[in-house]
Amino acid sequence: MSRIFSTFADIIHTSQKMQEKIVILDFGSQTTQLIGRRVRELNTYCEIIPYNKFPHDDPSVIGVILSGSPFSVYDEKSFKADLSKIRKRLPVLGICYGAQFMAWTDGGKVEPAGTREYGRAHLEYIDASEPIFKDIEPGTQVWMSHGDTITEIPSGFRRIASTDKVEIAAYRVEGEQTWGVQFHPEVYHSVKGTQLLKNFVVDVCGSKQDWSAASFIETTVNELRQQLGDDKVVLGLSGGVDSSVVAVLLNKAIGKNLTCIFVDHGMLRKDEFHDVMRDYQGLGLNVIGVDASAKFFKELEGVTEPERKRKIIGKGFIDVFDEEAHKLKDVKWLAQGTIYPDCIESLSITGTVIKSHHNVGGLPEKMNLKLCEPLRLLFKDEVRAVGRELGMPEHLISRHPFPGPGLAVRILGDITPEKVRILQDADKIFIDGLRQWGLYDKVWQAGVILLPVQSVGVMGDERTYERAVALRAVTSTDAMTADWAHLPYEFLAEVSNKIINHVKGVNRVAYDISSKPPATIEWE
Ligand code: XMP
Repeated sequence: MSRIFSTFADIIHTSQKMQEKIVILDFGSQTTQLIGRRVRELNTYCEIIPYNKFPHDDPSVIGVILSGSPFSVYDEKSFKADLSKIRKRLPVLGICYGAQFMAWTDGGKVEPAGTREYGRAHLEYIDASEPIFKDIEPGTQVWMSHGDTITEIPSGFRRIASTDKVEIAAYRVEGEQTWGVQFHPEVYHSVKGTQLLKNFVVDVCGSKQDWSAASFIETTVNELRQQLGDDKVVLGLSGGVDSSVVAVLLNKAIGKNLTCIFVDHGMLRKDEFHDVMRDYQGLGLNVIGVDASAKFFKELEGVTEPERKRKIIGKGFIDVFDEEAHKLKDVKWLAQGTIYPDCIESLSITGTVIKSHHNVGGLPEKMNLKLCEPLRLLFKDEVRAVGRELGMPEHLISRHPFPGPGLAVRILGDITPEKVRILQDADKIFIDGLRQWGLYDKVWQAGVILLPVQSVGVMGDERTYERAVALRAVTSTDAMTADWAHLPYEFLAEVSNKIINHVKGVNRVAYDISSKPPATIEWE
């Protein structure tokens, strides 16, 4: 059966040059994006789509995965999808709520589970003849995380796996390419989870596994050439990985018709403006660097409220960018480094579809340009893979995220050039230290915060009354949650000594040991 699907996908792929895809129907689970990433790691393109928006007319879909959900199927408000036109036509894998939903819709029973069914479990019985269990042995650890469990399957459903506590841990629907698993194969704790997804995506759906950084570049460069023709494009660079990769990709596609603008608002890291400009020029990009720091310092004078700082910087950035772009002739497009997590329509518990897409603070509306977002289908790790494939320097690709308003949100209280200087010097010692100690790539993000307090100290025989700074370093996978990084004491001691001895105006260093939630990564 799997060959039939594979052949079908082959025909479509070769005749229409369509990118085959897996559709993940999102029922609101926190791990839906993780399913997407796991499928992409199998070199298979996938899209996450709200549960009720299945693209029935899209012939490039080769299989469907139903995600979990915060709801119980019997909740009145739970998300319900009509799968009747999907299930007999395409392979379907229901995960957790996805599995419960299909069983319940067809007349099975889903009931609240006891706490013992929650978390780690082991598959004691597995029907080895089922293709989704290829190379998965009984005893394998899986992760359950729902308050409900399927207690009775409808007729036509067959139990194909059990744990010691959950009898129907997985089922198969007879006469269909439909499976349900009550555990979460996408999470790390399901030890053979990736194998199960691979069995479904590759063996059952027939994915050719041809989604790779190289194939993405080839297809995208061709598409950009067709889409843009001889049009001129402008792009705002931030020094971050997303906009830098867009620049190199567009440069490959349209060369000098791309102009990049890099605005220095005066609150970048020490020497960052010059270092990044040099990197960009080394990549052959056509970049205009604009030092607008004086304007920003003036507008920020005396402003202490964090959101006002953000607004002033956001608006100032748009004004400077717009002014520079208007000096260019006949620009038709604005390119942006929007990536997939920014575009996914996610579901709130009320069922409202939320689009978290954040453009650069209203630039497109103001400039009246068409939008070009070549990375809008990629996850962050894929953007990095594309950057590497494009031959970009590693330090540009593996850079930590850095907030758009820069050090402005790390100076608590009002901003002055002197405070920025102090913070830049302290930050440089911290970041250089992380690199020297081989810790930079182990943390998600790091920086120093300048506190609005002074404290008493002693240097030589002198009493001092100077500033305190806080070091912040976190581990994370997506910035939605973060833990404070457990950096070695010896490292913290060295950084603290260096900052106090070399940064004039600082006599105290603290380390922030708050995780997110309830704290945030930035202090403002
Ligand atoms: P928080 O502080 O909300 O930060 O935990 C999460 C991530 O977002 C970054 N961040 C910003 N990025 N403009 C940005 O472009 C901002 O105003 C902003 N505030 C926070 C932060 O650095 C972290 O990566």
